[in-house]
Amino acid sequence: MPNAGPIALFDSGEGGLTVLRHLVERFPQEQFLYAADSGHFPYGEKSLDEVRQWFLSFVDFFLQKGARAVIIACNTATAAALPIAKRRYDIPILGVVEAAVSRAVELTRNGRVGVLCTEATYKSGLYPRELQSLNPTLEVAVKPCPILVQMVENGHTDGAPVEDEVRQCVEPVLTRQVDTIILGCTHFPHMRDVFNRVVGQEVSIVDPGEEIVEYLPLELDLAQGSGAPRPVLAWTSGDPAQFATVTAKLCPQIPMVTRPLRWADQQLAEEAPVLALDTGEAERG
Ligand code: DGL
Repeated sequence: MPNAGPIALFDSGEGGLTVLRHLVERFPQEQFLYAADSGHFPYGEKSLDEVRQWFLSFVDFFLQKGARAVIIACNTATAAALPIAKRRYDIPILGVVEAAVSRAVELTRNGRVGVLCTEATYKSGLYPRELQSLNPTLEVAVKPCPILVQMVENGHTDGAPVEDEVRQCVEPVLTRQVDTIILGCTHFPHMRDVFNRVVGQEVSIVDPGEEIVEYLPLELDLAQGSGAPRPVLAWTSGDPAQFATVTAKLCPQIPMVTRPLRWADQQLAEEAPVLALDTGEAERG
């Protein structure tokens, strides 16, 4: 397994940070890249075809940056593009769903699993398919929670409105007597404390980011060692200042340098850095 080049993570926005933070904590000497297609957020409201095209452009971008592996830290993009991306590229491309599903199958005692996700992931049928491929007798209750995605993207992860919304999302799956709930959108673990309070101790919560930390060393050689983490190089196709502000609020422990990207004719282009103009020169010129 090659171990030269960084490991790239992708999400539509702030969600993939819930995967990144576990990786940075466990492998601080590894170089991680992070890209957010915030310009097209939220993916949950888009078609799987659109999401697939956008995500594949990001993989091309990561290859230009020398990435040795890509982690799709987004369930919606995993649902849209994992099989085609694995076929198209010769570096490892890993989704977040497989590890989460295996863990849920291990944890459930009564064979009833709940999944909270985006509308697009719900429509893709990915979770019931993957869960039942491991255990065909499982009952799976899936609930799209688009408002929660939006709340996290705006940096709201606690407080009464968040708790009310989490309750509304969780109640329909709890009514189906699930004993395990998968946070099937990477935005949701940012609200983990609220989920813990609302769900109670009888129900297990599966966070794909926690699972992939265990699973990744089976797939890749990772830089070992401790110490201060290497800064993550990040890009967003949205507003970089907004992205950096919310990221610093949600994950202050991750050192990160964010740069702008823009979409032009369906292609991603890195924005030229803004050069400070020497006004004295300008006046003289
Ligand atoms: N964080 C993403 C996921 O895991 C997508 C959220 C969105 O853009 O709607 O599905």
